[in-house]
Amino acid sequence: MSSIKKVLIAGASGTLGQSTLAEFLRVEQFDVFVLTRPDSKKTFPDSVGVLKTDYSPQSLGEVFSSQKFDAVVSLLNRSIGSEVERALINASKTAGVKRFIPSDFGNDLANPEVLSLCSWFSPKAKIVDYLKELESGSFTWSALITGPFFDWGLQNHGFDFDFKARKFTKYEGSTPFTVTNVGTITKALVNLLSDSERLRDTANKRVYISTHLLTQDKLLSAVEKVTGATFEVLQVSLEETERKARESLASGDMVGAFGLAKVALFKNSYGDFSKKQSNELLGLPQGDLEADLKKYVNPIL
Ligand SMILES: NC(=O)c1ccc[n+]([C@@H]2O[C@H](COP(=O)([O-])OP(=O)(O)OC[C@H]3O[C@@H](n4cnc5c(N)ncnc54)[C@H](OP(=O)(O)O)[C@@H]3O)[C@@H](O)[C@H]2O)c1
Repeated sequence: MSSIKKVLIAGASGTLGQSTLAEFLRVEQFDVFVLTRPDSKKTFPDSVGVLKTDYSPQSLGEVFSSQKFDAVVSLLNRSIGSEVERALINASKTAGVKRFIPSDFGNDLANPEVLSLCSWFSPKAKIVDYLKELESGSFTWSALITGPFFDWGLQNHGFDFDFKARKFTKYEGSTPFTVTNVGTITKALVNLLSDSERLRDTANKRVYISTHLLTQDKLLSAVEKVTGATFEVLQVSLEETERKARESLASGDMVGAFGLAKVALFKNSYGDFSKKQSNELLGLPQGDLEADLKKYVNPIL
């Protein structure tokens, strides 16, 4: 058990938010509230306290004077920039919140090269810098670094597979990289906040987690085994991907620039968190790759 009882989740209606809210509601220790915008059309289970805010300092002040929260979990959309989250952090610190979890959940932006490749994520890095400025004996933070969401990625963008056309884009080399299921993230959040030792050991840190350690070869052979299908492999040069994506970025084409995220994942094993992850500390279960592929790939084939 930990001292965290009252938890406020911002962005609980989103992709990561809905699963996180469901996981928090399963744990008796927590009294769960959600923060949502006044004009949001999203709905929440009846058992949840719903608080509305436009994220202005005044409106957040009213929210935080209505309840005394122990922890705030931000699962806000990444495109909001850092100002909304900064306001949430300021209100949290002023109100005596003990642990703030920012909406990070992605690349290792502590690595300057990764940050320079994925420059559109700089608001997330700035938020961690801001939390470092504000941290104190009573106000602490933890940022979960997850790499790509695996189950969500398989269902939403195919994770380098075109499942219908039976094609697989293979970047040169066979670099290890880690990926994380949404279910692993929600468990990590709950386990981190519900246990006093875990709370202590994760204070004021980027906390790395993962569900699977992969290489693209391992992933392809597991997919072919589970599906019984054969995929045509399209070989791609990482150097060429980086060159083209940098050109796209310079011309403002953000879709083309997304190749830089691949470079940040595969170059120099930047996307492999297996040696620095806190899975054991957080009591996270081992991932079962074949079971995940059966569950998420077979229905879309
Ligand atoms: N590593 C990966 O592969 C991966 C994949 C997906 C997401 N992520 C990360 O996970 C985090 C959550 O992403 P998500 O996809 O779950 O977010 P999302 O579904 O796009 O949005 C989450 C919530 O943010 C709130 N929101 C949206 N626009 C806002 C604004 N302008 N001001 C204030 N609130 C706003 C909305 O809540 P209300 O309508 O209730 O106000 C929304 O439901 C982000 O940090 C994202 O980068 C990582």
